[in-house]
Amino acid sequence: MGKKLVTLKLNGKTVEKAVEARTLLVHFLREDCALTGAHIGCETSHCGACTVDIDGQSVKSCTHLALQCEGAEVLTVEGLAGLGAQPGVLHAVQEGFYKEHGLQCGFCTPGMLMRAYRFLQENPNPSEAQIRAGMAGNLCRCTGYQNIVKAVQYAAAKLQQTEKVAA
Ligand code: FES
Ligand code: FES
Repeated sequence: MGKKLVTLKLNGKTVEKAVEARTLLVHFLREDCALTGAHIGCETSHCGACTVDIDGQSVKSCTHLALQCEGAEVLTVEGLAGLGAQPGVLHAVQEGFYKEHGLQCGFCTPGMLMRAYRFLQENPNPSEAQIRAGMAGNLCRCTGYQNIVKAVQYAAAKLQQTEKVAA
């Protein structure tokens, strides 16, 4: 099958590659771009392990075509640390999952981090119920979610603190 060029901004860098029309974004990221942070769990939009950020929205990359990203800004978990207070320093959501033990096997974690990142942009000061609702598209088989909620609460507090210092 013929390939088409797709050009996008991936973690801040312009990427241009030839892809088949049927290529899913998660396969493009993992196989063509060697970014294996987005995991493949269900391939049916249920589990959220493949969550990335496209133009400011959480997207499940297992049900999104690479060609749909033409001209888009895509952020994966590999690009998250670069958005922290300083280059190479963990982003607040990464620090939160680390400090609050928001993972066990870690399979869901890249998707959780990417959803938590976007959720906190949408709702910087969420209640526990809002966190649970906002993260409901991401499933975890290990943790029971309590520490994931705490991790997002940690990140929310840290981001607010950082903003106060910057103001
Ligand atoms: S692999 Fe995409 S939602 Fe499960
Ligand atoms: S930590 Fe294992 S699936 Fe979430």
